[in-house]
Amino acid sequence: MDVFEAIIGRRSIRKFKKKPVEDELIWKILEAGTWAPSAGNMQSWEVILVKKDDIKEKLVAAAYLRAFIGEAPLIMVLCANTHVAAAMYNERGTELYCIQDAACAAENMLLAAHALGLGACWVGSFDEEVLRRALDLPDYLKPVTIIPVGYPDDNPYPPPRREIEEIIHQDKFQEI
Ligand SMILES: Cc1cc2nc3c(=O)[nH]c(=O)nc-3n(C[C@H](O)[C@H](O)[C@H](O)COP(=O)(O)O)c2cc1C
Repeated sequence: MDVFEAIIGRRSIRKFKKKPVEDELIWKILEAGTWAPSAGNMQSWEVILVKKDDIKEKLVAAAYLRAFIGEAPLIMVLCANTHVAAAMYNERGTELYCIQDAACAAENMLLAAHALGLGACWVGSFDEEVLRRALDLPDYLKPVTIIPVGYPDDNPYPPPRREIEEIIHQDKFQEI
């Protein structure tokens, strides 16, 4: 699949078939994540792969009962690793770069999932403390996104995008 086709065709999928995701495909998604750009190539992120029903239930609870998350055969939780980023970049590393690293990896993974015929969704709305407890996360890991992954059982209409003219500012920022 052409990169523009993947970028434009990817949708947030919130309904999944029961079919499990093959390990080879999970591996490819993870590989796509590792090829994302990262500050100083530190790759300061970790991913927790959740397949067990009891942990999934805890993630649904952390995400304010968004049931579709638990219906995906696989849930990936991407976390920024502040220790790794701090080693090279101090505060800018812990406050910004590790979160950007995780976000870059997440977008690569969303695109890879789509290119492989899978569906996924970035879920950012969750109670961080509940999520931390569910996954035994140490303090130095900051959860960035919960990504349920599975075979799509929906084909959502593309939500509208801002016009390019609306987002560009020539030479200096100007309020429109
Ligand atoms: C930072 C961020 C947070 C998001 N949080 C949620 C969320 O909590 N729940 C959800 O269903 N979708 C969430 N989304 C997905 C967006 O709703 C979705 O990307 C947007 O509506 C555009 O639709 P599309 O992804 O199909 O193009 C989030 C996306 C991003 C980037």
